[in-house]
Amino acid sequence: MSNNKGAGGQMGRDQFRSRLGFIFAAAGSAIGLGNIWRFPYMTGASGGGAFVLMYLAIVLVVGVSLLLVEFSIGRHGKANAVDSYAKINKSFAWIGYLGVFTSFLLISYYSVVGGWTIFYTFKSATGSLASVPADQMGNFFGGFISKPLMPLFYHFLFIALTVWIVANGISGGIEKYTKALMPLLFVMLLILLVRAITLPGAMKGVAWYLKPDFSKLTGSTVVAACGQVFFSLSLGLSGMVTYASYLSKDENLISNSFIVAMADTLIAIIAGFVIFPTIFAFGGEPSGGPGLVFISLPQIFTKMPLGSVFAFIFFLLLVIAALTSSISIMEVCITFFTEKVKWSRLKASLFYGAVCFLLGVPVSLSFGMWGDVKILGKGIFDLFDYFCSNISLPLSGLACAILVGWFWGKDKALAEVTNNGTIQSSVAGLWFFTVKYIIPIVLGIIFLQAIGILNV
Ligand code: PFF
Repeated sequence: MSNNKGAGGQMGRDQFRSRLGFIFAAAGSAIGLGNIWRFPYMTGASGGGAFVLMYLAIVLVVGVSLLLVEFSIGRHGKANAVDSYAKINKSFAWIGYLGVFTSFLLISYYSVVGGWTIFYTFKSATGSLASVPADQMGNFFGGFISKPLMPLFYHFLFIALTVWIVANGISGGIEKYTKALMPLLFVMLLILLVRAITLPGAMKGVAWYLKPDFSKLTGSTVVAACGQVFFSLSLGLSGMVTYASYLSKDENLISNSFIVAMADTLIAIIAGFVIFPTIFAFGGEPSGGPGLVFISLPQIFTKMPLGSVFAFIFFLLLVIAALTSSISIMEVCITFFTEKVKWSRLKASLFYGAVCFLLGVPVSLSFGMWGDVKILGKGIFDLFDYFCSNISLPLSGLACAILVGWFWGKDKALAEVTNNGTIQSSVAGLWFFTVKYIIPIVLGIIFLQAIGILNV
């Protein structure tokens, strides 16, 4: 963004200075813990190849199109999410409020996991991760997350970093660094990929990951795959609406949405190729849950020359990738509070940080002493995650598609995505059809399954 007030500063609205600036900010939002931490463990819990296929299908049919929907609503609105929806139709402003509400819940557990990555960065830097034998990585991780205070300290640190970046309005500066750091994360993943698939026994993991077992494809797998698409592409929270509201009128939204979706998906798929071969090589269980990556990645490092150096660089990059996502989750609220409630950026950031820290406390404790607490049959972490990923985000996505397809209408929507006809695109018409008819049907069915009305 072009001035150091950052997004939503009081000096009038900023704009992204260059095309690359926006792509990196949007890709920075999309690429994060969702790709490297959540995608592998959801795939592991949902049976492998069939889940991956379902995931790819939903990215193609729903994900890319909804990204373009959010981009077009945001750029057209040039305001916080609530006002951007209201500009098209007043009765859809609630999507923006739901996004603000969900942003609080989502960041509260996102930053607990973000805290785990900071802890692993420190442990790699001091060499103490390297001293843990590979077969003890599970115990090491379990010992850490079940402690009451230590994970909370790192959760606090992660929130504090996010607040600091957003309060100072320096996300523009962060974008500059991510331009260099994200390709580095990609290179690190490729190095890990080579090491993982050459471990003895790794091919069993590759086969498990690639071979779809369709008997595993149930209604809840489809709900999980859909939730993962929303989480990973940063959809349904109005984060992309907010970012696109800082976008100039001559950007090509269509190609931007393709690039962001493809980059995000590629990283997730590669992360799977790193994690599953490793799990099989070390005799672990793919269905190991949220700790999967924190156990299997350190195991690879024990089998690499200069393992601690690689571990340190990798976890540091992961922290940065997580931060470029968390700032976008927070920006939804900050833009709302500064523009609608007229709070200062600092006040809004501190308030947000404090509430999210407190909300994260029960989430963090649910991995230890509150592990037995169940609400609606789910642990606290699972409950937060299920509500955000499988209910709130897809519901907003569904509402956005209806808003654009049925209320904004073809002429206006196409005028926005083609920059008033200056971009010739053969896919724009297909996009509108998908948004108007296919997405409401597909998401409608998945949503009914997610809330338990359908039960396939
Ligand atoms: N897409 C981010 C990730 O994969 O880590 C998480 C996220 C960011 C979700 C922004 C939602 C959002 F609005």
